[in-house]
Amino acid sequence: MIELRNVTKTFPGSGKSAPFTAVDDVSLTVPRGSVFGVIGHSGAGKSTLLRLINQLERPTSGSVLVDGQELSGLSERGLRPHRRGIGMVFQQFNLFNSRTVYGNTAYPLKLAGLPRAEVRQRAEEALRFVGLADLARRHPEQLSGGQRQRVGIARALAASPKVLLSDEATSALDPETTGEVLALLKRVNEELGITIVLITHEMDVIRRICDRVAVMDGGRVVESGEVYEVFANPQHSTTAAFVRSVLPERPAGATLERLRERHPGALVTVPFRHDGDLGRELSRLLRRYGLDFSLVSGGISEVGQRPLGSVTLELHGTQAEVAAFLADPQLAGVVADGSGAQDSGTHGSGAVAA
Ligand SMILES: Nc1ncnc2c1ncn2[C@@H]1O[C@H](COP(=O)(O)OP(=O)(O)OP(=O)(O)O)[C@@H](O)[C@H]1O
Ligand SMILES: [Mg+2]
Repeated sequence: MIELRNVTKTFPGSGKSAPFTAVDDVSLTVPRGSVFGVIGHSGAGKSTLLRLINQLERPTSGSVLVDGQELSGLSERGLRPHRRGIGMVFQQFNLFNSRTVYGNTAYPLKLAGLPRAEVRQRAEEALRFVGLADLARRHPEQLSGGQRQRVGIARALAASPKVLLSDEATSALDPETTGEVLALLKRVNEELGITIVLITHEMDVIRRICDRVAVMDGGRVVESGEVYEVFANPQHSTTAAFVRSVLPERPAGATLERLRERHPGALVTVPFRHDGDLGRELSRLLRRYGLDFSLVSGGISEVGQRPLGSVTLELHGTQAEVAAFLADPQLAGVVADGSGAQDSGTHGSGAVAA
C-alpha cells in the first residue's frame, strides 16, 4: 500500500543553524491491510517520516508511492485527491473547540465540497463506528481525552481513507484509555480494511496491535520486520532496549545478584516461543533428570497475539543431575546463570554460558 524508496529529508539550515537530515535514506514497504508500527526515541525522525507519506513534507530525494501512485512528483493540486485517501490522527487531537463533535467530524467533508446529505450520512456513520453517536452535540472540552481521540479518528474515517496515519495517538492518554483507543484502531484495520501506519515511542503499543515494525534511530531505519520475529530476536541495540522495556528478560547485573542471594541453586532461563516445545517438554525433562524447581523470575506475554517470553528457574538437585539436564539436546537455547550446584563455566552442550 505504501512504498518508500531511498527517502531522505534534509531541512535547510536557517541563519546560524546547519541543515539537518531528519530522515536518512529510508526504504520500507507497508503491506496492504497491515498495521505497521514505527518506533524510535524522541527526535529519531518518526513524525517527519509519517509526514513524508502524505507529502506534508516533500522528500529531498527518493520516492513515495501510495497505492501504486508516485506522490513525490505531484503538485499540491495534483496531490489533493490522493491526500483524501490518507487520514491522519494526532497526539493532541487537533480538534476545533468552537465546533461540536459532529461539526469536527463533518468539517473536512464540507471543505471537500461533498453534498449535504452525504456529509451527514458519512459523519454520522463514522461517529457510530467510534461509539460517539450519543455525544455528537457536545463540544470537545466536554469530552475526556479518550473521547476526543475517538472524534479525531471519526473525522479521519469520515473521508473513507485507504490509509490511516497515527502520530502518537495514545501518548496523551492514561493506560486504560490507551487500551480502548488501540482496540478501536485494530477494529478500523480489521473491519474497515484500512492500512494503518502508527508511530510511537512505546514498545507496548507495537506489541499490542502491530503486524510489522520499523525501528528508527538518528533518521535511519535500523531494523524492521514481522513484530513477533523482531521481539523474539532483536538485532540492533536500540531494538533490544525497546524489547527489554516490555518483555521479561534473562536476569542480569544487580537483579541476578539479588536472585542468587535468595536462590542458591542453579539458575536457568528457559526461553518460550509459540513455535517451540520447551514449554511443553520442560516438566518431562526435569522429571527425567530427577530435578525439582522453584519459579524465580520471568513471564510470558502476548506479542502480536502469540505467546513469547522466558522463565527463570532455580533447580533443586545435585551438581551431576543439573549438568546432565543442561546437556540434554532439547535444551539448546536454555541459559544457565552458573551458581550453586552448577559451577560457573561448566555448562552442558545445549546451554549458553552466562
Ligand atoms: N521543520 C523542521 N526544520 C528543521 N528541523 C526539523 C523540522 N522538523 C523536524 N526537525 C528535526 O528533525 C528531527 C526529527 O524530528 P521528528 O519530529 O521527525 O522526530 P520524532 O521522532 O517524531 O520525535 P518525537 O518523538 O519527539 O515526536 C528533530 O531533530 C527535529 O528537530
Ligand atoms: Mg514526533
